Amino acid sequence: MKVDVLLGLQWGDEGKGKIVDVLSANYDIIARFQGGPNAGHTLEMDGFKHVLHTIPSGIFHPNTLNVIGNGVIIDPFILRKEIGLLQEKGVNPFENLVVSKRAHLILPSHRLLDAVNEMSRGESKIGSTLKGIGPTYTDKTARNGIRIGDIFMPYFEERYQLLKELHFRMASSTGIDPAQFTLDGKSFGDYEKEWFQAIEAIKAIKQVDSEYLINEALDNGKRVLAEGAQGTLLDVDFGSYPFVTSSNTITAGVCSGLGVAPNRIGKIMGVFKAYCTRVGSGPFPTEQENEDGELMRDAGREFGSTTGRARRCGWLDIPALKYSVMINGVTELIIMKADVLSPFDKIKVCTAYEFNNEITEKLSYEAGQGVVVPLYEDLAGWKVDITEIKAENELPASFRDYIKYIENKTGVGISMISVGPDRTQTIER
Ligand code: GDP
Ligand code: IMO
Ligand code: MG
Repeated sequence: MKVDVLLGLQWGDEGKGKIVDVLSANYDIIARFQGGPNAGHTLEMDGFKHVLHTIPSGIFHPNTLNVIGNGVIIDPFILRKEIGLLQEKGVNPFENLVVSKRAHLILPSHRLLDAVNEMSRGESKIGSTLKGIGPTYTDKTARNGIRIGDIFMPYFEERYQLLKELHFRMASSTGIDPAQFTLDGKSFGDYEKEWFQAIEAIKAIKQVDSEYLINEALDNGKRVLAEGAQGTLLDVDFGSYPFVTSSNTITAGVCSGLGVAPNRIGKIMGVFKAYCTRVGSGPFPTEQENEDGELMRDAGREFGSTTGRARRCGWLDIPALKYSVMINGVTELIIMKADVLSPFDKIKVCTAYEFNNEITEKLSYEAGQGVVVPLYEDLAGWKVDITEIKAENELPASFRDYIKYIENKTGVGISMISVGPDRTQTIER
């Protein structure tokens, strides 16, 4: 068997969590391969809404094993909270959740450094979720990091103190007194105490060599789905650098983040919104800082699942979508939130950019750095509520034209259409 992949093609928040939940019934294992609690994956079912940050989106399916892979970074404080919220909903994650021993830990002082780094960037700040993502991945590649497997080791506390002291020296060099710093409204010391309590709590999660677990599962005919976090345009190599996250959010990240070889990758499902959103700083050529953008934000409830920040909104960007399809090797597309465009008379789509007096359909390095002018085509809107539609042939003709248009432009078929946040509001083709 091969690992199927589901990931985001834009700047995150495409609706990955919803689709993973819908698809989980078809898979034995759901595995997160990168990112950390900067992610917020929303699931809606039976009239309730649940947001996951570290735990894979298959957790509501008791027969599906959920794996936090080696490429993920974990904040025990947040993970413990996530477990508690699931338990309140009657889910016992200790039964179908395992974690890679190789996954790195986010320390309280990583979060401190994230805040210090953002402050020192001033106007050019990245708009990080401040969950300690950048500093933790930095320590991983600098070979300073501490891993989940280390929490049972006798040297754990000593390594923790050494790394914390290093972080404190780094923070102090910018004139900030770490001892005065607050995290989630708590003093550093109080937060740290809770972090260590959380370490004890998460010891109950089964630790595994997830690379063996997944490869052996595939050998035994099990179906595995890799769940991406963030989106392709936030990838550390191919996103709008430096306004990106610190991991490889793309298909290649599945290989390093789970330990599966490239020839074991199967279907690659790319999730995208019928328009675009972005939270945090950085280029966004089709952004609509006007009534259109506001209408998208209101109709799509575009506020961050992790930070609550208002998401920037704009029209679909075909050159960017094609770039993401290419980088990931997308074999099927999944379109989300088309219902949000129902109020619009006309749907605009960016088909090319004007850059340096030339027209280009490529997201070249220079285009990514500079100010590109998006060139639009106008398509007919559908102007009807599509949220209750269950079958493709009931969809309005102009919406079906929109689907065909995107398929023609990208050269990839759309396999699923999401018309609302609930599990049931999903049309499979
Ligand atoms: P993720 O990070 O990719 O999992 O996406 P988020 O959960 O951060 O953001 C997607 C938001 O859109 C969530 O609030 C979902 O409940 C919601 N959502 C998902 N699919 C649809 C859809 O088809 N229509 C509408 N209106 N909302 C959707
Ligand atoms: P999901 O998985 C949307 C953005 C942040 C910021 C940049 C860097 O829910 O799609 P970081 O905290 O990683 O240092 O922030 O990336 N960002 C996201 N935007 N969805 C996410 O995850 C994101 N994770 C990070 O807003 O601009
Ligand atoms: Mg999200």
